[in-house]
Amino acid sequence: EDLEYLHRRPPVVTIMGHVDHGKTTLLDSIRKSKVAAGEAGGITQHIGAYHVDLEHNDKQEQIVFLDTPGHEAFTAMRARGARVTDIAILVVAADDGVRPQTIEAISHAQAAKVPIIVAVNKIDKEEAQPDRVKQELTQYGLTPEEWGGETIMVPVSAIKGENLDTLLEMILLVAEVEELNANPDRMAKGTVIEAHLDKAKGAVATLLIQNGTLKVGDILVAGSVFGKVRAMVDDRSERVTTAAPSFAVEVLGLNDVPAAGDEFEVFNNEKEARALASERAEKQRQSRLMQGRVTLTGISAQ
Ligand code: GTP
Ligand code: NA
Ligand code: MG
Repeated sequence: EDLEYLHRRPPVVTIMGHVDHGKTTLLDSIRKSKVAAGEAGGITQHIGAYHVDLEHNDKQEQIVFLDTPGHEAFTAMRARGARVTDIAILVVAADDGVRPQTIEAISHAQAAKVPIIVAVNKIDKEEAQPDRVKQELTQYGLTPEEWGGETIMVPVSAIKGENLDTLLEMILLVAEVEELNANPDRMAKGTVIEAHLDKAKGAVATLLIQNGTLKVGDILVAGSVFGKVRAMVDDRSERVTTAAPSFAVEVLGLNDVPAAGDEFEVFNNEKEARALASERAEKQRQSRLMQGRVTLTGISAQ
C-alpha cells in the first residue's frame, strides 16, 4: 500500500491478568475518569470496546480499549494468529504477585508479539510489594526500565484512580514507537469482536475496524456471513454513519451471526460478496459433516 495514504491510528489496547487482580476495576476507573465525566447518567456502554480522548503533548489523542479479555474472540483470534490488539496491559496485584494467569497472559502477548505494559496494581494496600512483583516478572522476560530492562511498569491503584494518567501516557508513548498506521480512504476490513442474535434487530455484530473506513450502506463479508450495513452505533451508543481505523462499532444488517474472531471485509460488488459468503458457508457445512464422520469412525473403530 502506498505510504502517502497512511495515517496514524489510535492504539487498540487489551487488559490482561490473573483473576481478581483488578482488570475490571482498572477499566472502569479509566472510563469513569475519561469517558463518563461529561456524560449525564454516568456510564453507558453497549459494546465490548470503548475509546478515551486525552490531551498529550498539546495534541488530542485517543486510545481504544477492548474490554473482553479472555473472551472467546481472543481465543479464536489467537488460534488463527490474528492480532487485534496493539498493546497489552498486564495487571498484576502488588499484594499477590505473579500467578498462573499472569504467566499465561505474558506468553499469549509474547507469542503475538504484542508489547506489554505492566500495571502493578493495588499499591494502596498495606501488603503491596511492588518490587517483589517486578522481581518475579524478570523470570518471564519482563525487566523494568528502572532496572535496565525494556518493560514499562507503572504502579497504580485502580480503586483510587492513582497514577492512571501515567499509565495512559505510557500507552501513547508505546503507541508512538509502534507507528500504528492505517489508510482511512480504503474500504474497511477488520475483525468481529462479538456477535449475537437480537430478536428485534436481527444479527448484531461488533466490528473492530483495522483498516479503511466502514460506512452505512457498505457491503461486507464477515467470515461466512453476508451483509449490507443498515445502521451503526458507536461505543457511546450514538448512531454514526462512518467508523474509522481502530474504532469499534455495533453493526446491523448481516444475514446471519458471524463468529467472534472472524475477519470482515467490505466489497464493491454485491454479487461477488454474496457468492464468497455462501461459498464459505458451504465449506463450513462440509467440514462440519466431515468432522462428524471422523468422530463416528473413531468411535466405531474402538
Ligand atoms: P476477574 O474479572 O474476576 O478476573 O477479576 P478482575 O481482574 O477484573 O478484578 P476486579 O476488578 O474484579 O477486582 C477484584 C477485587 O480487587 C475487587 O474487590 C476490587 O475492588 C479489588 N481491587 C481492584 N483494584 C484494586 C486496587 O487498586 N486496590 C484495592 N485495594 N483493591 C482493588
Ligand atoms: Na473479580
Ligand atoms: Mg473482571
